[in-house]
Parts: sequence; C-alpha cells; structure tokens
Amino acid sequence: MGKPYLIRISSQKGGVGKTVVAVNFAAALQQMGKSVLLVDADFTNPSIGIDLGLEDIDAGSLEVIRGRIKIPEAVVKDRRTGLIILPGRLSSRQVSLNDRDVHIFAESLRSTSFDFVVIDTAPGVISDEAVKSYDEAFILTTPDFPSCTSAMRLAKVYKKFGIKQRLVVNRVQNMSYELTIREIEEIYGNKVFCVLREDSIVPISVSERIAAYAMKKNSRFCRDIRHMALSFSGKERVIEGGFLARIISRFNR
Ligand SMILES: Nc1ncnc2c1ncn2[C@@H]1O[C@H](COP(=O)(O)OP(=O)(O)O)[C@@H](O)[C@H]1O
Ligand SMILES: [Mg+2]
Repeated sequence: MGKPYLIRISSQKGGVGKTVVAVNFAAALQQMGKSVLLVDADFTNPSIGIDLGLEDIDAGSLEVIRGRIKIPEAVVKDRRTGLIILPGRLSSRQVSLNDRDVHIFAESLRSTSFDFVVIDTAPGVISDEAVKSYDEAFILTTPDFPSCTSAMRLAKVYKKFGIKQRLVVNRVQNMSYELTIREIEEIYGNKVFCVLREDSIVPISVSERIAAYAMKKNSRFCRDIRHMALSFSGKERVIEGGFLARIISRFNR
C-alpha cells in the first residue's frame, strides 16, 4: 500500500450511510494506530461537521480546491475521536467541479503524510477521469433492490478504470423483505466486503453529534466497523466476539 492510501467512500444513492461509515471507519483505523485524515468531499451537502458538532467553519475542502487555503490551515481536530478532519463549509450555492479540480484536490491529499485519507463524497456516479485519483473505493449500499442496482452502476465505472473496489452492505436487519447477502453477491458478481448491521447507536450518535465510535465502541455497528478496519490495519489475526470466540482462539494458536 502506498502512503497515504486514498479511500473514496461512495454510493450512487444518497442516505445509505457514507458519512456515518466514513467517520467511524476513520476513527477505528486511528484507534488501531494509523494516522488518518478524514475529508469531506461532499461539496454540495457537507455533513461530517454537522454529524460531529464541529462549529461552522470559514474555509474547508472546497476552499482548498479553489486555492484559498492550504490543507494544514483548513483541518480541525475532533475532540472526541482525536481525528484530523478537513471539513466542508456549508453553502447554499450549487457547487460544480470539473475533473481537473478533483484531480488536483486528490493530488494535494496525496502529498500529506497520513497513512490513510478517508474521503466522504456526494452521491452519484463519478466522472471517468476523476476516478483515477483514488487508490480504492468503497461502494455503500443498503440491502434493497434500488440501492443495489444503483451501486452496480458505480461498480462498472470503477471496474472500467481498474480502481480497486469493495462493496459494503449497510443497515442489515435480516428481515424477510431484504435482499440476502448471497443475492447481493449474485447481482454484484463478487464477494461483499463487509456487512454493517442496523443499530440505534447510529441515529443516537448523529443526534448527539458525537461519532458512534467515541460513544459506544462495543455497539453492534462499531464492532462491524472495527472488523472492516482490521483488514487495513496490518494486524494479522483478530479475535472478535465474546467469551466463546476467545476460548476457541486459545486452541487455535
Ligand atoms: N447502520 C446503521 N444503523 C442505523 N442507522 C443508520 C445506519 N447507517 C446509517 N444510518 C442512518 O442513516 C442516516 C443517513 O446516513 P448518512 O451517513 O448521512 O448517509 P449518506 O452520507 O450516504 O447520505 C444517518 O443519519 C443514520 O441515522
Ligand atoms: Mg453524506
């Protein structure tokens, strides 16, 4: 893995959990000893600052692109997680960026010395050119047909340009009306990277404006997120789960 490693958190559909996953995945990676920059690149509707209760800022990711401020001056530290964040400034204007802007922005993120840069984005399909700026992308979906079919369109773009991609299924409740993971894998034609379960800690943490990871690390959602982050941590073996899993692991050493 090159350093910094740029991970784009994306989805074709809105409201599937990109921001929540970006924040908590970044927090989990950081707790595993990695240095992480969390970036709000949802320029039209930046929401990391809203979710984490970071006060309104004068300049953020868009102003970095516009060359009005440099990254070190624009970042803020989240008190609860210790995360370094490049937030987005709230604005009522519609923002339009061209591929070159996106590419220059990605290059400026690449010139930082973090281990990982986790980039939250706006919903939608990225343009062909801009996609090349990232090392890999998570595609977020919920276990329903509309969201999954949208995710497949994004998957095609990443595939076309040889960008490593991982499908993350969020808000899983194992209800009879949901698509099963097997069905999603059939549609995707590949393995699902990670399953994140529905958990009330998520809306609670959003309403409290604190990252779930800083509120209740042992919640279902945070355990799932930790599991996801572990494959990036360089740690070889993880023992997740409760008492029984720990006992079994002793016999498998
Ligand atoms: N695993 C989850 N369990 C429960 N609620 C969730 C979960 N993931 C997301 N949510 C809810 O969905 C809302 C939208 O998530 P968000 O991260 O803002 O989506 P996006 O960034 O894709 O638009 C959140 O405010 C939260 O309440
Ligand atoms: Mg969002």
